[in-house]
Amino acid sequence: MITLLSYKIDSDGVLHMNKLKETSSVNGLIKDDTTKVIETELVDAMPASTDFDALAEKAISRRGFLGTCVGLGAGAFVMGMTSSFPMSALAKASSRMSFDAVATNSLDTVTVPKGYSWQVVASWGDPLWSKGVEFNHASRGTGASQELAFGDNNDGMALFTKGDKNILAVNNEYVNRKIFHGNRASGVPENADDVRKSKAGHGVTVMEVTNRKGQWSIVKDSSYNRRITADTTMELTGPARGHALLKTSADPKGVESKGTWNNCGNGRTPWGTYLACEENFNGYFSSSDEKYAPSPELKRYGVKNKDRGYGWSMTDERFDISKNPNEPNRAGYIVEIDPMDPKSTPKKRTALGRFKHENAEVIVADNGHVVVYLGDDERGEFLYKFVSKNKYKKGGDNTNLLEEGDLYVAKFYDGGKGQWLALTPKTTGMATQAEICIHTRIAASAVGATTMDRPEWVAAHPNKAEVYCALTNNKNRGKKPNAGGDATPAGGPNPRNVNNYGQIVRWQEANSDHTADEFTWDLFVMAGNPTVHKDVYAGSENIDAGNMFNSPDGIAFDKHGMLWIQTDGKYSNKGDFAGQGNNQMLAGDPETGEIRRFMVGPKECEVTGITWSADAKTMFIGIQHPGEKGNSHFPGGGNSVPRSSVIAITKDDGGYIG
Ligand code: FEO
Ligand code: CA
Ligand code: CA
Repeated sequence: MITLLSYKIDSDGVLHMNKLKETSSVNGLIKDDTTKVIETELVDAMPASTDFDALAEKAISRRGFLGTCVGLGAGAFVMGMTSSFPMSALAKASSRMSFDAVATNSLDTVTVPKGYSWQVVASWGDPLWSKGVEFNHASRGTGASQELAFGDNNDGMALFTKGDKNILAVNNEYVNRKIFHGNRASGVPENADDVRKSKAGHGVTVMEVTNRKGQWSIVKDSSYNRRITADTTMELTGPARGHALLKTSADPKGVESKGTWNNCGNGRTPWGTYLACEENFNGYFSSSDEKYAPSPELKRYGVKNKDRGYGWSMTDERFDISKNPNEPNRAGYIVEIDPMDPKSTPKKRTALGRFKHENAEVIVADNGHVVVYLGDDERGEFLYKFVSKNKYKKGGDNTNLLEEGDLYVAKFYDGGKGQWLALTPKTTGMATQAEICIHTRIAASAVGATTMDRPEWVAAHPNKAEVYCALTNNKNRGKKPNAGGDATPAGGPNPRNVNNYGQIVRWQEANSDHTADEFTWDLFVMAGNPTVHKDVYAGSENIDAGNMFNSPDGIAFDKHGMLWIQTDGKYSNKGDFAGQGNNQMLAGDPETGEIRRFMVGPKECEVTGITWSADAKTMFIGIQHPGEKGNSHFPGGGNSVPRSSVIAITKDDGGYIG
C-alpha cells in the first residue's frame, strides 16, 4: 500500500503536511508548483494495525517538530514516531543530509565529504601578539612564549561577532605532558619555567580571527586577544562566596579564585558571555606530606596525594593539599567570561554547582528564566539543571543571572519518565545552600539521583523543549559504585553493563517548559558495533556498519535542528572497535534517527568543540591531542610535533554548513 502525503513549505519555512489517501497507484494525481506529493511505502516502519493519523498526531504533540523541518520527507515523519528508529531505505531516501557519508579510516589527517574543504585556523603555540614567537618544534616553547600564545588541547569554543569582528573564545583543557614537555627526556616538567609554561598552556584563549581570501587566521595584536590561565584572578560569586570552605592562604576571605584549568566543554549566554567549564581540576593537586589523608569530600572529587604529572605544586603551594586543603574547593565551577572585554574579571558561578563540569547548555525558557543544563563527567555521576531566580530581559542588564537560582539533579525512571530533584538544605540534609554548591556531588547522592554513564555535553534542540546528553561510556556500569558509594545497576538511560560504547539520551520537558520538574525520556542512539556483536552491544537500530562509532562526547545543534556528534573514544580499530577508525564527527537527525558520518579526525585525536561563523558558512571544529600516544604529525606532517588545532570546514560551493 502506498500512502500519499502532500506537503507545502510556507514563506516562514513552516512545513504543512496532509495525508491525501492510501492507494496502490499514484497515476492521475495533480501536482502544482507549491504543493509536492510524496509517495511513501509504509512498510517496516509502521505497524500494520496502527492508524496513520493517530500516530501522526502523537508524533506532532510529542515532538512538535513541524515548525522548522524544511524538506522533511514522509519517510522521516514516520521514522520519528518510533523510539528505536528502524532505518529503512525509505528513511534514507528522504534524508535531510545533503553530504555523502565519509567512511572510517585511520589516516593522519582530517577527512571531510566530497565538496567540502578544511583548513587549520590556529594550533597550540601560535602567537597572539607580534611580540610572541612562532612555535618552536625543538623546544616546544617556554613559559614566556606560551603566555603569549594559543594554549594546548583546545576543547569547547564559541565564536562571537561584533560588527565585522570575529572573536573566538576557546578552552585549552589540558596539556599532553609527553608532547608538551617533549623537550625533556623525562616528558614531565622539570623546572619552574616548565611549570610556568604548563599553567599558560591551560585556561582559555580569546582571539580575534579573520577570513582573508578564504583563509581563516588569528589577528595578531587585536585588542580582543587575551590569555586566561591557571594564574588569572577570578571572582567567586553566588551562594558559596565567602564560605569557610573557600578560604585559603591565598584568599583568606574566600571571595576570589586564582586561575582556571581543565576547561572542557563550554557554553554561551544570550547576553554575550562565554562559559568555560572546569572538569578534571583534581589532577593538579598533590601533597608534600605523603601521610596526609585527604578528607572524604576531597576524595569524592578524586583529589589525591599525587597529581597526574603536572607538577604545579613544585612552584605553587596552592596545589599542595597538605598545606592548603581548601584550595581544590575553589575549582570545579562554571566560569563566566566577557569575551569582548579583555580587562574584565572572570566570574566563577558557584550557584551552578561544583563537579567535573563538561559543558553548560544555556536556554531562556518561555517564562523568561534562564535554564542551564550541566553534566558531571565521571563514571556514575549525575546530570543537573540550574534555573535562574531572575528573568532574562532582552536588551537589559543580565550580567548576574547566573548568580542566584535553583539547582536540580535528574532522576530517571524505567518506562520513560523522569524528575528533576531540587537540591536544597531540606532535601539533602546539608546545612546551607553554600555547602550544596561546594559539595554538589554529595548533595545529589543524598537525594538519590540517577547514576549516569559519564554525562558529557548537553545540547538543547533550538525549536522545542527537548534536550540531549551524550553519555560517553562507563566500564563500571553494573560492576562498581560511583566514588560516593552509589550503586550503578544497569537500567533506564544507562541500560548496558560494562558500557564501552556509550549512548545519547534525550528528554522532553513537561509542558514544553524548560523550568518543569518532570520530563519524559528516550534514547536517541545507543552506539555499538554490529559487525562484532549481535546483542545490545551492536547498538540501536539506527546504527549499522556504515555509521558506527563509540563514545559520543561533544554534541551541539545547528540552527536547522541537526545534531552534531563528536567522539572521544577508542581508535584501535580492533576487537570491539574494529572498523570504527579514528575519532570522528557525525550528524544526527532528531526526527528520523538517521546518523551519518561527516568527518574523521587524524590519528589518536579526539574531536571536540564546535561553533559556526555568523553566516553559518564556516564550521569551526576542534582537533584535540592528535598523536597522544606518539603516532601523529598533525597538522604539519613530516617530522613535526603534533599540535591540537582549531580547524575550519567550508563547503566548496560556498553554501551553509549546518
Ligand atoms: Fe573533557 Fe568529559 O571531557
Ligand atoms: Ca569532552
Ligand atoms: Ca570524553
